[in-house]
Amino acid sequence: MAINIVVMASGSGSNAENIFITANNESKLHVVGLICDQPKALVLDRARLHGVPSFLIPSKGISREEHGRLVTEQLLKLDAHWILLAGYMRILPDVFIKTFSLPNGKSKIINIHPSLLPDFKGLRAYERSFESDKAYGGVTLHFVNEQLDSGEIILQEKLPKVAGEKIEDFIERGKALEHVLYQKLLVKLVEEELL
Ligand code: GRF
Repeated sequence: MAINIVVMASGSGSNAENIFITANNESKLHVVGLICDQPKALVLDRARLHGVPSFLIPSKGISREEHGRLVTEQLLKLDAHWILLAGYMRILPDVFIKTFSLPNGKSKIINIHPSLLPDFKGLRAYERSFESDKAYGGVTLHFVNEQLDSGEIILQEKLPKVAGEKIEDFIERGKALEHVLYQKLLVKLVEEELL
């Protein structure tokens, strides 16, 4: 049976593109859509390039609840089996998360976060990891629940710091690690190892 994936992203979309390309090489995985809330986001161009249909659901000027309702409607229409968040910058309401939650505490929504959770939840996680005393940052894939960046961890890897490195290079290495983690996640989806 085909596994329907919807990617949600707001920005540049390097993770989204990595998912489009990886899924394209795996017959069981179908990226049935990209949901984006930013009309000028580069990720929309990337979706076009890979033939993935985009659904622009602006978050500006509407409430969190209304935005969540519109996104839910679209995800149900697309028959999304998995919702992969890849830099989606609008917080979604609890009712959205409940719709896609499972009785075992997991959910059909997966997020990538650029730190070794539970360290550095929230925004600017690379910057805060970089500035901290810790010897490494990290990247985490986790199930989404109602608490920010707190759902069960699926995959996680450390990003060791390199002496003298600039923040831009640290982030670049982090992004490369993010892509590897999402590729591993897609293998888990195909092998139905996740639930
Ligand atoms: C990534 O660093 C991801 O971890 C965070 O948002 C960023 C999105 O980057 N949640 P990109 O748009 O996929 O390049």
